Amino acid sequence: IASAREAARTAASLEVLRDMLEKFDGCALKSTATRLVFADGNPKARIMFVGEAPGRDEDIEGLPFVGRSGKLLDRMIAAIGLDRTKVYIANVIPWRPPGNRTPTPQETQICLPFIQRQIELVDPDILVTLGNPSTQTLLSTREGIMKTRGRWFNYDTGTRTIRAIATFHPAYLLRSPSYKRLSWQDLRSIAKALP
Ligand code: URA
Repeated sequence: IASAREAARTAASLEVLRDMLEKFDGCALKSTATRLVFADGNPKARIMFVGEAPGRDEDIEGLPFVGRSGKLLDRMIAAIGLDRTKVYIANVIPWRPPGNRTPTPQETQICLPFIQRQIELVDPDILVTLGNPSTQTLLSTREGIMKTRGRWFNYDTGTRTIRAIATFHPAYLLRSPSYKRLSWQDLRSIAKALP
């Protein structure tokens, strides 16, 4: 398991990385999930969105953000003038946790080298973290989304620094629609920063 996670750091391409995850048996979530949910969108995109973990619909389809929160994410992406063919979408955790529970810190740490390498291989100009788990894990902060949203961070791959910004998770916006107004502010600053 340690060697598979180590190998992920040097996976030569997204295809190789995906194949490594298909064969990886170090994360217990794999045994309860239907399938791997690796990514969607354009690997050449200049902007990458990272969520938490697949839900029921994603687990069935094998693609991230295809359910109700995915429909809202599509509208958020449209708000910055783009669509799924021009962005890349992935999750910190590539398997659905049972009953959509929050992934444990241990599960997150096990999967972390894979999403880190995925970000490095896509090499976007802008990284958008959706919600607390993705933001706290990838941007190494313990602050909550109310403090982190709309703020620019530096995401260090080891070879390059990528501009990163946190915003609300669309599932959260569905539960608390009053925060959509703030979310559009974040999307405006993302749109301004687009290359
Ligand atoms: N929520 C996420 O964080 N990711 C998905 O792919 C779907 C819902």
